[in-house]
Amino acid sequence: MSKNPSPSGRMQGQTVLVTGTTKGGIGYETARLLGDEGATVLTHGRTQQAAGASVGSLTVDGNGAGTFIPVAADLSSIAGAQQLADVARAAAPHGIHGLVNNAGAGFNERRLSPDGFEMTMAINHVAVAALTDALLDLLQAGAGALGRPSRVANMTALIEGRGKVETDWSYPGRYSQTQAYFNAKLTNLLYTYALARRLDGHGVTVNAVSPGSVNSGFGAKAGGTFGLMMKLGSPLYGHASKGSAGVIRIMTDPGLATVTGGYHTPSKQKKSSKKSRTEHLQDQVYLQTQRILRAHHDDHPRSVGDDRAHPTPQRFQ
Ligand SMILES: NC(=O)c1ccc[n+]([C@@H]2O[C@H](COP(=O)([O-])OP(=O)(O)OC[C@H]3O[C@@H](n4cnc5c(N)ncnc54)[C@H](OP(=O)(O)O)[C@@H]3O)[C@@H](O)[C@H]2O)c1
Repeated sequence: MSKNPSPSGRMQGQTVLVTGTTKGGIGYETARLLGDEGATVLTHGRTQQAAGASVGSLTVDGNGAGTFIPVAADLSSIAGAQQLADVARAAAPHGIHGLVNNAGAGFNERRLSPDGFEMTMAINHVAVAALTDALLDLLQAGAGALGRPSRVANMTALIEGRGKVETDWSYPGRYSQTQAYFNAKLTNLLYTYALARRLDGHGVTVNAVSPGSVNSGFGAKAGGTFGLMMKLGSPLYGHASKGSAGVIRIMTDPGLATVTGGYHTPSKQKKSSKKSRTEHLQDQVYLQTQRILRAHHDDHPRSVGDDRAHPTPQRFQ
């Protein structure tokens, strides 16, 4: 683990939700480094036990500046993402200043989520959109209190350009682990750009981060081609903290306070694939995703007057 060389307390007074903080992964290192900067980190795990274990380790591994609060939910369903939003709201009722959508996974065989989507798409895209949607008002409240936009970072991958934009997210045809992953990361990147355009000037920046290839639990859990790639590639891959460098820049760099709709590597902002920068594909994915979230909201009304699935962003600045 690389220790933060010069933490400067840049996140003091800020609360950030980081999803997928299992020790050994990019989310764990992100939580640790944000904590080192003084942040209160809502530290997400799939279960309460997992989140508690991460908090226990972070308390030991961090420099003592941060506060870690365990939050749990299974992010394979829209309901799970909304449950996590509720827990975050209870923990930080006055607002949050950052959301790191880091949790992700790959699968060696086709599985369907509780909502009927192929699992890779369900976790890497649908849950990310559902969680972000459900937290928009809380992010805007955080921005209002801080006087500058709150920041959302979505974890993408270098290989997003090999993804295809599918319209049936249950993938009824032949299944490929790698293609399902490429598609999910491209879809989420397209969504990221579309959302960033819509939220521009409304108190929330939205950026994508590609961590590069790093050692984590990803390959072993995914198995199949990813398992093999991780096994063979691991001597060449960096520590998970290297993969969190881009997110840390987005969350802490004053120079990136209003930068939105960008694609960032650990060291700089770059151009993603041409496909991902195609505006009509961005809008297609955005509309399909919003239709899904609205349909879920209509089928599962959460409380009278709850309109969180239909956010009307308040103009900010
Ligand atoms: N490692 C790389 O080289 C690389 C490259 C490009 C992009 N990425 C992306 O970076 C992100 C972090 O990956 P990583 O490499 O750090 O892998 P990791 O160690 O496996 O971390 C993934 C995290 O997501 C959580 N997660 C997965 N499915 C979940 C679910 N249904 N509900 C709740 N949590 C769930 C995992 O929890 P469990 O431990 O409970 O499964 C884990 O905490 C992912 O989005 C990945 O796609 C990684």
